[in-house]
Amino acid sequence: MSLASVSDILQMAVEKNTSVIAFNCIDYNTIYSVCHAAENVNKPVLCMLYPEHHTLNRWIDPEGFAAAVKDVASTVSVPVAMHLDHCYDFNYIIRAIRAGFSGVMYDGSMLPVEENIANTRKVVDVANAFGVSVEAELGHVGMAATGDNATDDLYTQPAVAADFIERSGCTSLAVAIGSAHGFYKETPHLQISRLAEINAATDAPLVLHGGSGIPDDQLDEAFVNGINKFNVGTEFLDLYIKTIGEYTSQDKGWILDLPTYLQGKLMSYLEKKMELSKF
Ligand code: 13P
Repeated sequence: MSLASVSDILQMAVEKNTSVIAFNCIDYNTIYSVCHAAENVNKPVLCMLYPEHHTLNRWIDPEGFAAAVKDVASTVSVPVAMHLDHCYDFNYIIRAIRAGFSGVMYDGSMLPVEENIANTRKVVDVANAFGVSVEAELGHVGMAATGDNATDDLYTQPAVAADFIERSGCTSLAVAIGSAHGFYKETPHLQISRLAEINAATDAPLVLHGGSGIPDDQLDEAFVNGINKFNVGTEFLDLYIKTIGEYTSQDKGWILDLPTYLQGKLMSYLEKKMELSKF
């Protein structure tokens, strides 16, 4: 199948009252594993590039990412789309759109709300002209290591959400309701009542970040209360590095068999995770 668009997949999730899962991918192994795991469980999926994995860590760039996703997506029969994760740089967003990303996130969540709205609007005006959807963030999903998930000062305020979505023109909204990025120090507790209030105030698909380590029963609840896109990175990439460690500690662990070994392990994890998506 050729590439699907992020907005088409979000629409499918809205119609099924569930969430698509967006996985942070860094290279061909991760992209291959995400697309083929989705094929094996017959569900749509999103491959997501986090800009700093390229700009700071020198993993794949947007053009290489787009070429790899297009290539692998053409060999599977489920809808696959590519999305740019947290981006603060207008020019990098344009670069991703030119490369073929059909969804981008502009993250102005650390800015005053009016500035966040104005910057998001600027991205929306350009992105929509290319048929690209824009995810924005209101409230701030911080870092689990510093306990930001438990700081409700950072949470999204339901009373502000509808106005933010209308004035910024964003397609989807990342909400802060008790999750954070990275491994949690203690089990997180999502504020489902806050999510339900935000969901009642708007028709826009809502996005949950910081997916690594949130218990499945909380995710089930979040998915029927308006979360239509769910981001997972840390636990997926942690499995990647641990699997390489495990492989290299074996006697027969030579380089050429590494991708198939690695992809097999990643796909088992991904297929299980994707069971949460009720497509
Ligand atoms: P984790 O790395 O905590 O799974 O979060 C991923 C994410 O939200 C990417 O935007």
